[in-house]
Amino acid sequence: MKVKVQLQHLKPYQPGKPIEEVKREYGLETVIKLASNENPYGCSEKAKKAIAEELGQLAIYPDGYARALREALAAHLNVKEEQLIFGNGSDEVVQIICRAFLEKGTNTVMATPTFPQYRHNAVIEGAEIREVPLVNGHHDLEAMLAAIDEATRVVWICSPNNPTGTYVNETALRSFLARVPKHVLVVIDEAYYEYVQADDYPETVSFLNEYENIMILRTFSKAYGLAALRIGYGIAHENIIRSIEPAREPFNTSRLAQAAALAALSDQVFIRDCAERNKQGLEQFYRFCEEQQLAYYRSEGNFILIDFGFSGDEVFQYLLKRGIIVRSGCALGFPTAVRITVGSQQQNEAIIHALTEMLKERRGHRCKETS
Ligand SMILES: Cc1ncc(COP(=O)(O)O)c(C=O)c1O
Repeated sequence: MKVKVQLQHLKPYQPGKPIEEVKREYGLETVIKLASNENPYGCSEKAKKAIAEELGQLAIYPDGYARALREALAAHLNVKEEQLIFGNGSDEVVQIICRAFLEKGTNTVMATPTFPQYRHNAVIEGAEIREVPLVNGHHDLEAMLAAIDEATRVVWICSPNNPTGTYVNETALRSFLARVPKHVLVVIDEAYYEYVQADDYPETVSFLNEYENIMILRTFSKAYGLAALRIGYGIAHENIIRSIEPAREPFNTSRLAQAAALAALSDQVFIRDCAERNKQGLEQFYRFCEEQQLAYYRSEGNFILIDFGFSGDEVFQYLLKRGIIVRSGCALGFPTAVRITVGSQQQNEAIIHALTEMLKERRGHRCKETS
């Protein structure tokens, strides 16, 4: 048997370490996971109630069109129902886009480092990957434009960018879109949209009236706190949605996910509250970085990338032994950094305390070595 040659060099996605595994390995009672940009406050109570009410229907396939959710979301976003596509997480929408647009002989342009699933799925489809390095943690839109040619099918913009937390502002995005050739689809991944605070962050849904070649991705996994249920969506011109729908599995989002997302959408108070707490949490980390003179990017997401100046794996291991799971930057293209999800105030205090101890130990160690 022979799998596609592209698969032979691909590694499966490496998820953050699961809590149960860390408890077992290190004999710990409590473990804090700040590794996968999940919502520390869970999800809306309305979503939990909706799931409970749906339990009697488990024998019945879900609505493949997700009508109830589609209607509510279209009204919420002020777009037509035909402008939406749902996926088993926005991960699946990325996969659908790649299946629909990419093949051997085409290419796709993206930043690096960025969310790895664009590359991963594009490789499977046999497309050429054109990666454009970030500049100071930001997308280099001019270089991305220069990388586009006749064979380019999809350009990816991750804003806020995972793992840096930086964003593309409205002026920069407009100037970029005005110059991207019309045969290229520009995907703007806004998985962290609900957390964004910057005034000049673009309201890209309104761009859909001006540009027929853009697609916006959002998810219920982050601020909505429904990561376990796997539901995300794409918003685009109806012609794009119609043309990629055949690449979607018929029942790709579950009953529970649709019901929970619908209920969660109706609880915007919960979303605003989480965004406000996240903002305060980021401030905790900014203060820590300033005090410790550590380099970091200001983040519009629910995570922060901090540069410690030595191996991110070391920081990761130090924290792991103390029951805190983060993401080492080694796997994310920033070998001396770690990416930390903003947790609850208490969780943030706990990790900041552990990191302060770690830095104290290292600095003490260095003093001894040099004396
Ligand atoms: C930028 C970005 N896009 C998409 C996703 C995928 O999210 P999901 O598949 O849970 O909707 C993530 C998850 O971490 C992400 O960081």
